[in-house]
Amino acid sequence: MIKFRNLLRAGAALAAAGIVMTGLTVNDARSQMMKDCCDDAAVSYSKDLWSAMEKAGLVGKGAKDDKPYKGQAPHGAVLETIHSEVVVGGYFFGIGGQKGKVVVKRNYGGDGVSIDAVSKDRKKFLKAVTVMFKREAGYDKDNGDWFWAKYKADGSLATNPKGMMLAGRVMKGADKGCIACHSLVKDRDYLFRKLN
Ligand code: HEC
Repeated sequence: MIKFRNLLRAGAALAAAGIVMTGLTVNDARSQMMKDCCDDAAVSYSKDLWSAMEKAGLVGKGAKDDKPYKGQAPHGAVLETIHSEVVVGGYFFGIGGQKGKVVVKRNYGGDGVSIDAVSKDRKKFLKAVTVMFKREAGYDKDNGDWFWAKYKADGSLATNPKGMMLAGRVMKGADKGCIACHSLVKDRDYLFRKLN
């Protein structure tokens, strides 16, 4: 006959195993996401991408102006979106680099922000630069092969509240973040705005 105490023990062991297994699954999911999202390779790529954008006059000192317009969450009160083609990485003059379309969104905010104020002093209100770069076919075939990055105004990478560097297949598989939200417009190649 099975003793009640043994049953309890078996139950406790099962529960413990359950906790361990759930823990494992969560950890697996997390490390998969890290791999997809924001590993060292992605962080390093984001630096090359920033340099390429700087050269093309899309970010940094001497960046070309466009037309600021009223924005919406989560991107900022006033936005400015430009797009172009750049070559990321490579050796001399970009040979061996990856040529692709880049969409750059400058996010403006802070006290006194308005379209007018931003037009007069972009630097003062620039809070973040969010970028989508079309990488080589197969980079992320589930999500249009886009490389996602969020930079601070100075060009260093922004992090999410958990300290994750926002570069790469950002938060792939999660229900929040760049890919999740932009998937709403998957049929338009993940782009909310029509590029002119
Ligand atoms: C909760 C939804 C949401 C999240 C999360 C989000 N975006 Fe967006 N994104 C938008 C919307 C809405 C627009 C269009 C805003 C506009 O210009 O009026 C947009 C526009 C953009 C654009 C300009 C191209 C376009 O789609 O029109 C880029 C680039 C961009 N987002 C990058 C990012 C990056 C990088 C991240 C993650 C760090 C991110 N976004 C996270 C909603 C989101």
